[in-house]
Amino acid sequence: MAKPKKNKMPPKMEKLMSLCKRRGFIFQSSEIYGGQSACWDFGPLGVELKNNIKQLWWKAMVQENENIVGLDAAIIMHPKVWEASGHVEGFNDPMVDCKKCKKRWREDMISGDSCPDCGGELTDVRQFNLMFKTHVGAVEDSAAVAYLRPETAQGIYVNFTNVVNSSRQKLPFGIAQIGKAFRNEITPGNFIFRSREFEQMEMQFFVKPGEDEKWMEHWREKRWEFHQRLGIRQDRLRWHEHGPDELAHYARSAYDIEYKFPFGWSELEGVHNRTDFDLTRHKEFSGKDQSYFDQPNNERYIPFIIETSAGVDRTMLQVLADAYEEEPGEKENRVVMRISPLVAPIKAAIFPLTKKDGMPERAREIYDELSREFNVFYDLAGSIGRRYRRMDEAGTPYCITVDGDTATDNTVTVRHRDSMEQERVKIDDLKTMIRSAMENYVRPETVDIFDIDED
Ligand code: GAP
Repeated sequence: MAKPKKNKMPPKMEKLMSLCKRRGFIFQSSEIYGGQSACWDFGPLGVELKNNIKQLWWKAMVQENENIVGLDAAIIMHPKVWEASGHVEGFNDPMVDCKKCKKRWREDMISGDSCPDCGGELTDVRQFNLMFKTHVGAVEDSAAVAYLRPETAQGIYVNFTNVVNSSRQKLPFGIAQIGKAFRNEITPGNFIFRSREFEQMEMQFFVKPGEDEKWMEHWREKRWEFHQRLGIRQDRLRWHEHGPDELAHYARSAYDIEYKFPFGWSELEGVHNRTDFDLTRHKEFSGKDQSYFDQPNNERYIPFIIETSAGVDRTMLQVLADAYEEEPGEKENRVVMRISPLVAPIKAAIFPLTKKDGMPERAREIYDELSREFNVFYDLAGSIGRRYRRMDEAGTPYCITVDGDTATDNTVTVRHRDSMEQERVKIDDLKTMIRSAMENYVRPETVDIFDIDED
């Protein structure tokens, strides 16, 4: 994995990146060719964690709210969409180049007027559009230009009337979507925090003008709750309200949920009051009516939109960073990922203690039974201690061992990841035990040796 400069990455991030590669959470894209910068591949554990985060979000937004429906819009949209949204004109970052080492910087992210790396002289500021451009069809002329979407939100706005007409939803209601977005970031970095290809989980809630700030409060509360459900430590989360000079052109008010990453407090997701900007612009650019007829009040208007916009990859990095701990041990530190069982990639590992006395067969039976409901893992190789350590690093809450007594009393030894305590549990009770851990997990208060205050 191509590592960012050593002096820039906090030690905990270095350790986490190495664990992610070692255990198969995250690999650099196209690594055997030297890597594709700021693009990432998710390995066997990574894809499970990512899917669990997305499923939890979908459940919290679509399944648990009768007035929210889902959508999956295309990544490539009509180019006019991006004119209407303001991205063609305004989705720019100010860029400068170092004349000496040629390194490129986002001007608003550096202090001083020389290159932060080599001290060289910088060029004048130029505006750089972050959208990836491509051509659709066989002819590469300007008429065929298209963009990879830089946000999923626009796919929702352009389908507003389709959803109203087909789903019989009445205001206030929301449309939710999870999908890839692409931004040609000038300075990506901090592992998967800022990449060029990433995923968003966005929900656009359409409301009557005048009711917008009330719904903004509602969604701020709900989004805060979501991070509790992920099992994230409270003192690592805070709100940041956008000041007048930070507000996007479309926003009346905006709040970010920030997490205290090892590299400092940074944005995880935004809750924005986008007013009637988006639908009004799409009405102007498409010539199609985007208004809503409010039957009970006999009124027609363009709805206001409250948006909740979270990054899947950033949420995943939050879960990983919050989970990573090293406990000092006698011979070596114990690396343990305290991931909530709700989103943990593997819920339980099943080990036969030895290869004899029918233990592997019994362990296989338990695997077959549990795997109908949970993602579980069977492991026969190595000492029990080594098998525990591997599962600690994978964030697996339970290790279940079939031993000599299992055949007679139908019980197994369950070893708990967080406390390392062991208990005998009836095989028939294993499913209930895992289900209950997924619903009721509380992250233990522990001392992490990397937990140095970076403020
Ligand atoms: N529709 C609104 C919108 O896209 P944003 O603040 O630009 O707002 C929303 O992005 C979220 O998407 C961010 O809070 C972050 O979690 C995620 N995100 C944005 N750019 C990203 C990038 N380059 N890499 C990873 N995640 C990103």
